[in-house]
Amino acid sequence: MKKRVGILISGRGSNMRSLIAAAAAPDFPAEIVLVISNAVNAEGLQHAAAAGIATQVISHKPYETREAFDAAVSASLEAAAVDIVCLAGFMRILSSWFTRYWEGRLVNIHPSLLPLFKGVHVHEQVLQAGVRISGCTDTPATLGARVLVEEHKLYPAALKVLAEDRVRLENGRAVFTRL
Ligand code: GRF
Repeated sequence: MKKRVGILISGRGSNMRSLIAAAAAPDFPAEIVLVISNAVNAEGLQHAAAAGIATQVISHKPYETREAFDAAVSASLEAAAVDIVCLAGFMRILSSWFTRYWEGRLVNIHPSLLPLFKGVHVHEQVLQAGVRISGCTDTPATLGARVLVEEHKLYPAALKVLAEDRVRLENGRAVFTRL
């Protein structure tokens, strides 16, 4: 049985698209069943809808607390019987309630080699720090584009491993059971 995946986005959704494209392969172990955006005009919503995937907008604005917003998102994911949640350019900080609730079933993509350059404006941070491996002639936009190409390969591969139950969390560390 394929794992059911919900994707949370806030904007462009190019990583979401890479997951949708990967999941279109008949032998991919997961299917994308729902895309939720907190931003009504997120570009990615149209792409998801065009691919025949259910979309929902849950704006964070009417909610008084992070937990209340997260509970609404969680309820939608559960209503769609989601097994795995993929964050793909989702620009809200999630409450620890949410991350605990979905622990082991929640995955994110981040465009730097963590623990370096957390948070937002990652490519600006990388360039400002003068990290040689990123190249010193890139602008944040061109560096972002180059990293994005790699993200689009990595994220579907990571979802595949998770959906095949080949990785689990042990004391906060990802442990691979079979490679
Ligand atoms: C990506 O670089 C992702 O790693 C980061 O935000 C960006 C989202 O881009 N979390 P997109 O919406 O997937 O195109």
